[in-house]
Amino acid sequence: MDIKQYLKNYTEFIDQNIDRFLPKGKPSILFEAMEYSVKAGGKRLRPILVLESAKALGKNDINDIIDIAVATEFLHTYSLIHDDLPAMDDDGLRRGKPTSHIVYGEAIAILAGDGLQSYAFELISKNEKIHPKKLIKVINLLAHGTGVFGMVAGQTADILHEKEGTFDDIEFIHIHKTAKFIQVCCHIGAILADASQEEQEALANYGLNIGISFQIQDDILDIEGEEEKLGKKVRKDIEKSKLTYPLVYGLEESKKLAKKHVQEAISSIEKIKNPEVLINLAKFIINRDV
Ligand code: IPE
Ligand code: IPE
Ligand code: MG
Ligand code: MG
Ligand code: MG
Repeated sequence: MDIKQYLKNYTEFIDQNIDRFLPKGKPSILFEAMEYSVKAGGKRLRPILVLESAKALGKNDINDIIDIAVATEFLHTYSLIHDDLPAMDDDGLRRGKPTSHIVYGEAIAILAGDGLQSYAFELISKNEKIHPKKLIKVINLLAHGTGVFGMVAGQTADILHEKEGTFDDIEFIHIHKTAKFIQVCCHIGAILADASQEEQEALANYGLNIGISFQIQDDILDIEGEEEKLGKKVRKDIEKSKLTYPLVYGLEESKKLAKKHVQEAISSIEKIKNPEVLINLAKFIINRDV
């Protein structure tokens, strides 16, 4: 399959659905800022993983879970807005556009991130097609993966370990700041497909491993990638003394480790119903230049 073309079409599909679910309200500047960052672009990998994980386990009709997939993109965009703030990575370019705080100022950028985060959970809780018990599990997992036991912990460690750190530190950072959220996107897809415990574990293990590879590749692209393609500044990690895989392991070893985690991801889903798209997505994670 041509995964790049597949992803391009999928991204358009997610973008159309984002339009259906973006909230409107007052003060208008808050909603404008939320929309600005969500619609600036992006690969839409997390919603795609939610939907493809569900499909891989036999869920054919995804119409009743698209709002949940879109909510993961709202959560992700919140994390990017805050990640770029002057107090964090201090970045001025994201998804090919000036970052939220450059356009709207820091206060509105913080609030747009806060708004996207809480609205993501509001949106999921409004779904009337999925059984409430399942929705609670979805909300629980997403809060876990993006919160104090996941992304927020990882982002904190990322800030604390600027300049130096051990093998354990870099692993903790990558697992928490990036992989756990990606893991729960796959896991909730499985839950929404009524998967067995074994299938849920397979998808969670797949997600964790592609998540680690995803952040290793992000570090590699900071060195080898192009600003025009990535839509963000490159060669910023060294300048900001970030603890990255290439810094700790070197570039070649980092590439090997990213590949190893992709292989681990692929072998976790060997036995599921339709693994093909997920296998191609895993390979894309380390072959991407965007
Ligand atoms: C960037 O995420 C931040 C990381 C967790 C590495 P993506 O590379 O998924 O960013 P978009 O959504 O495509 O802009
Ligand atoms: C970001 O990691 C992880 C998040 C939780 C947003 P990076 O700081 O490396 O992401 P980029 O390179 O700015 O996209
Ligand atoms: Mg960061
Ligand atoms: Mg950053
Ligand atoms: Mg990065």
